[in-house]
Formats: sequence, structure tokens, C-alpha cells
Amino acid sequence: MSEPADALALAARAGLPPEFLYLREAFPRPRWAGAGLDPVARHWLAMHAGFRSQQAGMADLVVRWRSGGIEIRDLHGAMIPALQQILQHLDAHHRIESGHYFPAMQRIEPRIEAGVALLDRDHDAIHAHIEALVTTGRAFHQAVTTGGAEADDRLRRLADALDRARPELARHLDDEEDIVIPLIALRGDPLAI
Ligand SMILES: [Fe+2]
Ligand SMILES: [Fe+2]
Repeated sequence: MSEPADALALAARAGLPPEFLYLREAFPRPRWAGAGLDPVARHWLAMHAGFRSQQAGMADLVVRWRSGGIEIRDLHGAMIPALQQILQHLDAHHRIESGHYFPAMQRIEPRIEAGVALLDRDHDAIHAHIEALVTTGRAFHQAVTTGGAEADDRLRRLADALDRARPELARHLDDEEDIVIPLIALRGDPLAI
């Protein structure tokens, strides 16, 4: 029997349930690094690596600011372009996945339909984080550019929003890879079938 839906919510789960991992069992992670990996799967992993690296870069800025290692104006100059970039890329990436790849994957691999539906629901949860980051990022940017005394407080709110988003996005990227990469490796590019 499958777990109740809330146990599988992005904020609650620690990984995918066993019934969604049969593709990874057939094509385990150690094989993903091979040169023969399908180019679409390789591109997917590269996109996710980019998100992880952008997130780590922003987290590092926050750590440095909290320890007094960087001035707020310097942080602002590095943070805002990084934030804009990751939010735009994430939004576009999710649109392609939810709008094109996920339905095609459910069609060519019906056994994983519920797993892909879970990944699709994750996007809604992440979208709420994206909206919070847009709002808090904009407020921080306005406070710094107008020289407002509230810049510290605005940055604190943005940093908290980043802290909340980070583990959920990391969970989603890992879980999505566990379904998508072996599926593409074993069945081919879903959009070409
Ligand atoms: Fe995704
Ligand atoms: Fe993705």
C-alpha cells in the first residue's frame, strides 16, 4: 500500500518510496557518469548541477554576511543578479518539465505515472518559494537602492526565504533525477518517441 499523500509532500519526505525507484535500480547512479549517457539526460544533470551551484553561491553570501565577512552593498551586487538568474532558469525549467517532458514520460512509462505526478506537485511547492524569493528579493533591492535603513531587515527576510527554499529544492532535484535520468537512459528521449 502506498504512503499517504502528505508523507510524500516535498517538505516531509526524505526520498522517493521504493515503488518509484525501480528505474534507478535498473540504471543506478554509478552508471550515470558514463560517457555513453543519453545527451538529454546529461543536459538534465548539468541543469540541476547549475541550480545546486547557484544555490550554494547564494547560501555562501548569506553565511559571510551573517558572520560580518561581507558588506551589505557588496552582497547586494552579487546576490541580486544570482537570484534573478536562478529564479528565471528554474521557472523556465519547470515549465518545460511539467508542460512537455512529464506528460511524455507518463505516456511511455505508465508504471511511473504516480511518481512523475509527485514531481509535478513538487513544482507547485517550489513555485511558492520562488514567489517568496521574488518578493523578499525585490524588497531588499529597493531598500539598498533607496538607501533605506531597513536594508538589514529586508536582507534577513530574504536570507530566511533562501534557507526555507534550499532543502526542498535539493530534495526535488535528487528525487527527480532518480526517476528521469534512468527513464531517459533506458527508454530514450521521451519527446522523440
Ligand atoms: Fe523539476
Ligand atoms: Fe529538473
